[in-house]
Amino acid sequence: MRQLRTLNDLSMPELEYLLKEADRQTYSSKPMHMEQIIVANLFFEPSTRTKCSFEMAEKQLGIETIAFDATHSSVQKGETLYDTAKTLEAIGCKALIIRHPELRYYDQLKGLNIPVINAGDGAGDHPTQSLLDLLTIRQEFQRFDSLHVVICGDIRHSRVAHTNAKILEKLGAKVSYSGPLEWMDPQLKEDQYLTMDEAVEQADVLMLLRIQTERHDGNGGYTQETYHNQYGLTVEREKKMKKEAILLHPAPFNRGVELADELVECERSRIFKQMKNGVSVRKAVLAHVLNLKGEKFYDRVI
Ligand code: CP
Repeated sequence: MRQLRTLNDLSMPELEYLLKEADRQTYSSKPMHMEQIIVANLFFEPSTRTKCSFEMAEKQLGIETIAFDATHSSVQKGETLYDTAKTLEAIGCKALIIRHPELRYYDQLKGLNIPVINAGDGAGDHPTQSLLDLLTIRQEFQRFDSLHVVICGDIRHSRVAHTNAKILEKLGAKVSYSGPLEWMDPQLKEDQYLTMDEAVEQADVLMLLRIQTERHDGNGGYTQETYHNQYGLTVEREKKMKKEAILLHPAPFNRGVELADELVECERSRIFKQMKNGVSVRKAVLAHVLNLKGEKFYDRVI
C-alpha cells in the first residue's frame, strides 16, 4: 500500500515521477467518468493552503470528499485518532489526508488498510509542502545539485525546515541556516549557520519561515521590529541578494516580521507560485497513492 508519511516513503524514482507529473500538469481539470472514490481530509490544526489545495486537487481529479470537522467530531468526546481513522475507513474512505499536532501521529495508524497522506505532523514533516518547494526550485534552476539553499527563521519548530533540509541535502544542494541561535536544531554543524547578512549574499534560494508560536511559548522576547531588523529580509537586505536568487516562504507569512511587506510580491518572490504548485503536487500525490492509473483514469488524462 502506498503511503506518504514522510519523503522516506518515496524512492528516488518515485520522487522524480511525482515532480515530473506535477510539472507536466498531466491531469485534466474536467474529469470524465470513473468509479467513485471518496477520501477524507482530517485537519486537527489550522490550515488554509494545504487543506484548500488538497480540496482543489481532489475536485480536479474527480475525487469526492467526506466533510470532516475536528471541532465538531467525536474527537471532542475523547475518540482516539486511530478510532476516528478506522471509522472513516469502515464507511468507505479510500485514503485519509491528515494534519495533526502530534509528532509521527501516523505511527498510531498502522492498523489501517487505506493510505495516509501526511499533511503535517507537529514539528516533524510536511512532505507535500516539500514536494511543492522542490518543484518550484527545479522550475527555476533545473537542478538541485550545487544550489545553495538557506533556510531562515524558527528552524527547530518547523516541519517545513526539517523535511526540506533532509531531501535537499539528499538531492545534492548545500543547505545552510539562519535565524535566532536558540531556535536552531541542536545537531546543526557550526559551519551551516549564517547571519542574515551572510545568508542574503550567499543564497540561491532564500527560504523564510514564520515563527511557530503555536509550538513554543511566546515569540522569544522579540518585538516585530527587533526580529525583522536582526533576522528578517528587510528591503535593504533584499538588494544584496544574488541577481538570480529566489525567495520562498511556505506561508502564512507575517509581513514586517520575517520579510518586509513590500517583498511579498517582489520580482524574486515565488511565494504564490509555490501555492499554485501545491495543487499540482497534491494531484500527483493523490493519483500516485490511490493508484489512479487504470484505463478509466487514463480516460481523464489530457
Ligand atoms: N504552508 C502551509 O502548510 O500552509 P497552511 O498551514 O495554511 O496549510
